[in-house]
Amino acid sequence: MKPRFVDPFTPNRPVDDPERFFGRAEPVNEMIDSLYQVMSGNPKHTIVTGDRGVGKSSLLTQVHLTATGDNRLTARLKIDRGTPKFDFVTVWHDVYATQSAFDLANAILSKFENSFQKFISGFKLEIDIAGFGKLGRDKQNPINMTQLIDEFVGRMVKINQEARRADKNGILIFIDELDRIRADSMIASFFKLTCERMVREGLKNVAFVCAGITGAIQKLEDEHASVLRTFRDVPLPRFEKNEVAEILRDGFLAANHIEEVTTLAERAWDVTVGLPEPTHLLGSEMLSVDTDGILKDEDFDAAIRKIVTDVRKNKLADLLARAGGGKYQKIVKAIVEHEKKIVPLDYIAKTIGQEQSQFSTNMATLMEREIVFKPSTGYYAFTDPMLKEYIRVNGVLSLD
Ligand SMILES: Nc1ncnc2c1ncn2[C@@H]1O[C@H](COP(=O)(O)OP(=O)(O)OP(=O)(O)O)[C@@H](O)[C@H]1O
Ligand SMILES: [Mg+2]
Repeated sequence: MKPRFVDPFTPNRPVDDPERFFGRAEPVNEMIDSLYQVMSGNPKHTIVTGDRGVGKSSLLTQVHLTATGDNRLTARLKIDRGTPKFDFVTVWHDVYATQSAFDLANAILSKFENSFQKFISGFKLEIDIAGFGKLGRDKQNPINMTQLIDEFVGRMVKINQEARRADKNGILIFIDELDRIRADSMIASFFKLTCERMVREGLKNVAFVCAGITGAIQKLEDEHASVLRTFRDVPLPRFEKNEVAEILRDGFLAANHIEEVTTLAERAWDVTVGLPEPTHLLGSEMLSVDTDGILKDEDFDAAIRKIVTDVRKNKLADLLARAGGGKYQKIVKAIVEHEKKIVPLDYIAKTIGQEQSQFSTNMATLMEREIVFKPSTGYYAFTDPMLKEYIRVNGVLSLD
């Protein structure tokens, strides 16, 4: 038996340890610049965008740490903060699907109430949450929106006074999973109008720091056309081959294993397409199937097998079923048959023997069901790259 070790891979949660947060020097630098701007009275609202599982929450977590005085990441990346350390008042909120602008404002305020007691002892922030009830049920009503912004900004003025008194840099409102909102939630209007109003009220050290999936963020724009101009977009790309290998090797080293996989970078990129979530999963399972402390090609293969037949089996089976029957399975099969993960539409057309126009609505449906996404015009790939491995082992559902 090999000695027991702590699994260094965390496929199930954002990276909170700055030492294990890889790459991302450019986006981190941009986010730190925003902190500096907000601190200096030049409010910059940001939105981190990227594919599912690309590392948005991890980046937000790191920015949150830095904003509250943890200098480990900026020191390691040698990024100039412009200040010895940041000291913001912060709240963090994860959006959920049924949330309206009204609910969001309320959730943020009640979190301030809690966190303020931590920062300033003996301070009680008066939030008359019940008062919001009087705004009425009709959340689409513009008078209600004006009232909501009055109430919200009015309270932010109070919170800001206390933050000033406590010598804080300002106030940051972290909002993750912004893609979950519905187009009729009025949240885009809320952001736009709140940001403008705050500046007019002299609240220039207050900013939103958000994250959400690239395509879904368009929902915000659909609701309020110019809202994305209010935010600075910080896109997060997938990792390069060498970065994927680096994440794996660093973990193997931390677990005291030797790595001898031939062309690890190529093979790992091929099954993960540069997404950190499957990369962590692969690393974790390679360590788990290995018996002798040396990671070889057969451990790589065994890990993939274990992921698709055991660890992620149910999730991948659900995903395949969610794709739909008949023609949908034919399309899915065609995607698997292509040698690359990112598949041109005309290959799919040729393989299923139809004109592109005959199945363009099917492709749209597959995107809606989050089975595939469109990395660029005319190209499709599975949202979960392990689905390809799963189908290679288990096949698709019946084709008729
Ligand atoms: N910079 C990074 N270095 C190493 N691992 C990372 C990095 N960013 C993310 N990860 C890993 O990738 C996985 C997904 O990260 P995270 O939850 O931050 O992604 P996300 O984009 O917020 O996902 P979702 O779209 O599901 O909300 C986690 O296992 C995390 O540990
Ligand atoms: Mg996330």
